[in-house]
Amino acid sequence: MLKISKEKLSFLKSLQYNPSSVTYVDESISKFGKPINFKIYPNYNHINLETDFPISQNEVENNDYSVFQQLSYMLWYTYGLINYNWLTNKSELNTGESISFFRRSVASGGGLYPGELYVYITGISEMDSGIYYFDVTGPRLVCLRKGNFDQYIHEALNEGGKGIYIFITSFYWKNFFKYLNFSYRLQGLDIGAIVGQVYIMSKIFGFQSTTKYLFNDNALNSLLGIDISEETTYAAVKLEITNKLTYRDNKVVNPITKRNQLDFLKHSYTPPNHLYPEIKELNCLIANDSIFNTGFTNNLVYYREDIDYPYPYDLLYASRNRVSPGENFLFDQLDCEQVRNILDMSLQKNFRVDVPIKEYHSFRFVKLYFYANNVKGLAKGYYFYDQLNQNFILVKRGDFAFNIQRNLTRKNFNLTELPLIIHVASNINYYLKNMNLRGYRAVQMEAGRIMHQIQLNAAGINLGSHPMLSYQGENLERMFDVSENILIQLAIGKFKPLLRLTNDLSQI
Ligand SMILES: Cc1cc2nc3c(=O)[nH]c(=O)nc-3n(C[C@H](O)[C@H](O)[C@H](O)COP(=O)(O)O)c2cc1C
Repeated sequence: MLKISKEKLSFLKSLQYNPSSVTYVDESISKFGKPINFKIYPNYNHINLETDFPISQNEVENNDYSVFQQLSYMLWYTYGLINYNWLTNKSELNTGESISFFRRSVASGGGLYPGELYVYITGISEMDSGIYYFDVTGPRLVCLRKGNFDQYIHEALNEGGKGIYIFITSFYWKNFFKYLNFSYRLQGLDIGAIVGQVYIMSKIFGFQSTTKYLFNDNALNSLLGIDISEETTYAAVKLEITNKLTYRDNKVVNPITKRNQLDFLKHSYTPPNHLYPEIKELNCLIANDSIFNTGFTNNLVYYREDIDYPYPYDLLYASRNRVSPGENFLFDQLDCEQVRNILDMSLQKNFRVDVPIKEYHSFRFVKLYFYANNVKGLAKGYYFYDQLNQNFILVKRGDFAFNIQRNLTRKNFNLTELPLIIHVASNINYYLKNMNLRGYRAVQMEAGRIMHQIQLNAAGINLGSHPMLSYQGENLERMFDVSENILIQLAIGKFKPLLRLTNDLSQI
């Protein structure tokens, strides 16, 4: 198994504590245009997804959908273009300029969405078996390779093979052009949010899912037709459904078991792959590490399956309602009940993932801290949230609002008057020790998954939540005696209506 070099460890440490030291600006970057945030595969066949999206969980529970409908709705609610915004920026008002943009159910650093989704499908009557790209602009599934790849997937994942799989990749240039090497940190968090939303939406639309971070990256990348110089697989999710899939054998029996028989599939845009050697190298080192092959089976602690329902809010509503309000936060009080709802992780209790740490569960390894600045019934101070027992534990009493504000590296928020600031923290070194370099990706994805759950919880009770990486982690960890690494900070509060014309695309 791979040993991580000092140089790589130092790079990852810098990303956490001194990102500007590893984000070199290459002058030639400006020569390359901003990429569109989805891929285009010209001249491939596609199948349009069902688009009569349900708007509430109630509607889902009272309907009997086909597997194709379930999959369509699940994909759209996970990563589809859920919301169209048209915004006239105040400072640009005189020029009459405006910008328009699509939003999704998951947040993404700078709204750049580096993640991509691919699906492997067998056994659905409406579709040929094969590998599909989820094209959000349809929404549709673009058929990249027809055939049965059960055996191939079985070998790449070291298990399974039949049924439906979702593969989540990172397309580096999509946010690299803006964040340079810092984008590596964002890619993990962004994709973690997608992993979280895939999990929740699959549950709602009738699938049971298992997530994998350990697999043969080179084999999966070949199967998806992607090149590790520009994009690589971060997570694979197996979806199981009890009785609707027929697992019919596909007529086109595809004998491919060797990855050199699977070519790169050309799409419409070639990014400047030479501009991110460090990110490429990290992902190649991960891909060539044999850890996926060690046959590790996690002794996962599963909790009772039935505790997930009823959930205190409608998750489909929350998915459409989630917003990072930025300067539109209101400085109003929250109460303890709201804080409890925001931090409630019960939906994540049965999340299955193959992190190779004995009895791994994010409840134990991804920690939640918060600063209560204006919460009725809670003294001002820094707290630890005990996820299993749902208790608040006061770590440090006092007014720290100005300290937190001072530790912002980009002062585009007024955190001094916001009621609640949350820190998602974990021990990066621990994951590195157990998973080698892959552990860095894994810990970021795990933090992103929890971040997303917090965002959905907030949206479910009509609160805004804004994730940010613009903080000085070392100072905050020292100030609050946090022994883990703070991986993302979230501001939470009420917000005034955003000055946007908004279209909820589920309604048209
Ligand atoms: C991992 C991550 C890091 C982010 N960091 C920042 C940040 O440092 N500053 C900021 O203003 N917004 C940050 N954001 C928020 C995004 O800009 C926001 O999600 C995006 O513009 C889309 O808007 P929406 O969340 O309202 O859909 C971050 C989001 C994510 C997921």
